[in-house]
Amino acid sequence: MTHEHALGYAVEHHSRFARVDHLGIAVIDLEAASEPYRLLGLEPEGTDEVIASQHVKVRAFRVGDSLLELLLPTHPDSPIAKFLDQRGPGLHHLALRVARLEPEIARLQGLGARFIDTEPRVGRAGTRVVFLHPKWAGGVLLELVEHRPAE
Ligand code: CO
Repeated sequence: MTHEHALGYAVEHHSRFARVDHLGIAVIDLEAASEPYRLLGLEPEGTDEVIASQHVKVRAFRVGDSLLELLLPTHPDSPIAKFLDQRGPGLHHLALRVARLEPEIARLQGLGARFIDTEPRVGRAGTRVVFLHPKWAGGVLLELVEHRPAE
């Protein structure tokens, strides 16, 4: 691979990460946690969604092209419940949108990235998601999100 080729690929790749898909915020009370965002003039998008695979109820507030997702655990086994036990309510993860998940996982693995789980899970609104290990990303839990094309 030539340098030009590598650079061109990196630039093309970078553009795919240009969008923050959402920020995930761990909460212990969905209504109380919603209040500051309502006061900021934001309204929930659609109805609250329960994501069975993650044992969470999600309420999303749209902010431009991105969402704020309030995450309420629905079961003690939820990763959000464990986070709340250890750290209390607050910012939990940063989600970046990718065009296609599997090629991105393979590419990042080739670069030595550490994943929590490379088997995509179902996220909000029918998305597919994986999480990178926070130790790989400077203490930030990064989620990669693939939106299915509209049918
Ligand atoms: Co998320």
